[in-house]
Amino acid sequence: MKNKNGIFITIEGGEGAGKSTHCRLLKEYFEACGKSCVLTREPGGTKLAEGIRRILLNPKSCVSPIAELFLYEADRAQHVQEIILPALEQGKVVICDRFIDATIAYQGYGRKIDLEIIEQLNRIASFSLKPDITIYLDIEIRRGLQNAKKLNKESYGLRGDRIEREDAIFHGNVRKGYLSQSKKEPKRIKVIKTRKTPQETQKLIREEIKKCLKIF
Ligand code: TMP
Repeated sequence: MKNKNGIFITIEGGEGAGKSTHCRLLKEYFEACGKSCVLTREPGGTKLAEGIRRILLNPKSCVSPIAELFLYEADRAQHVQEIILPALEQGKVVICDRFIDATIAYQGYGRKIDLEIIEQLNRIASFSLKPDITIYLDIEIRRGLQNAKKLNKESYGLRGDRIEREDAIFHGNVRKGYLSQSKKEPKRIKVIKTRKTPQETQKLIREEIKKCLKIF
């Protein structure tokens, strides 16, 4: 599906790569340029999806890999229909913190679920919507996990949320998944290594977006 009027940008990354900060900074940038912008996230973004997010991230939840896959896809189906498509139709810029590539990376490469099944479910849940550009923020796994656990300490304790608690091999496989996706779709998925400061990284993100989308 073409993003008729709006622009659809997704930000991906391993744990603790600073996606949320960069989504926020990017929104500020677009708004300063006079564009109407919606900032949203997966899992989450709708009332239903925020409930699903709580189940998925709670370390006490017992969720099998297939149940996990369906919960992420259910979250997406509601989110795309209720938030993303209407905003794009109104010509807005939609910035989404994680989308279809996260399912390939986490459930495909992390949980080892067949990639064809995931691609099919991604298509159904997203109504075949694809981002105009995806930024993958690449961070060294140990450093990222330290950042994430520090941030999530209040909500989930020192060991982090249910996914952050997975071992380094799992997170390494997730990273491999993202990098391999970026090789498959180099025009859409741009890999940016996180720099020392968020400002330096944000500058690279903005440059990449301007170059690829030919805007401003
Ligand atoms: P975050 O958005 O705060 O990073 O947390 C979301 C977590 O959910 C993160 O660990 C990645 C994971 N995730 C999946 O496993 N599959 C998905 O399809 C999505 C969107 C997220």
